[in-house]
Amino acid sequence: MAKPYPAELVRRLTLRDGTRVVLRPIRPEDRQIEKEFVQKLSDESKYFRFMSALRELNDAMLSRFTQIDYDREMALIAVVCENALETEIGVARYVVSDGGTSCEFAVAVADAWQHRGVGSILLCNLIDAARAHGLQTMEGMVMAANNKMLGLMSALRFSIRSEPGNSSIKLVTKQLDAPGDASVGVSDSSAADVN
Ligand SMILES: CC(C)(COP(=O)(O)OP(=O)(O)OC[C@H]1O[C@@H](n2cnc3c(N)ncnc32)[C@H](O)[C@@H]1OP(=O)(O)O)[C@@H](O)C(=O)NCCC(=O)NCCS
Repeated sequence: MAKPYPAELVRRLTLRDGTRVVLRPIRPEDRQIEKEFVQKLSDESKYFRFMSALRELNDAMLSRFTQIDYDREMALIAVVCENALETEIGVARYVVSDGGTSCEFAVAVADAWQHRGVGSILLCNLIDAARAHGLQTMEGMVMAANNKMLGLMSALRFSIRSEPGNSSIKLVTKQLDAPGDASVGVSDSSAADVN
């Protein structure tokens, strides 16, 4: 059964360039902004995120991405609001793996919003949410050519290793219960919480 909307994960932040951003768990009503977000990603960003030549999310994918149970799955979106209109500028999500102690994650930031700290903020908050949920490990697959993401993974202290037999993919892992890494926290990631 779906858990109630996890309002405790909502954050209001100011990026280092002064832009105000809201981070919040995704809702079914975010279907349209999620669709537009993916549609507008560059071909390269789509390829790095979905590892395929996907053009846009179909109805089934949109349902799967926006109608989550906040238990086995979590998705945090970053939105900016202009003239009362919300635009999604990034999303990070995890899905709990079968054993129940680890999760697989993915992240994407709109091309025009990259290099402003949004990816770090999303991932730091997703890591904190996964840790609070009792998960022990966060894992992901990153294309070996995706230097930006691999740089970000190192900065967030993920371990990076090659996938046996597949030189185009790197496996990234973070132990969420590692001593001395209690919380990466948004204060480490160029944003100030204003609320
Ligand atoms: C990868 C991605 C999520 C990063 O998002 P972003 O908002 O640009 O990330 P940030 O601005 O938080 O920057 C990341 C930080 O990580 C570190 N970093 C990023 N690239 C780095 C690199 N090549 N080397 C070392 N450190 C790097 C830096 O600390 C950087 O901060 P900076 O702006 O001072 O350089 C974004 O480029 C993206 O959406 N790419 C397409 C989709 C994708 O690749 N998803 C990952 C597959 S799951």
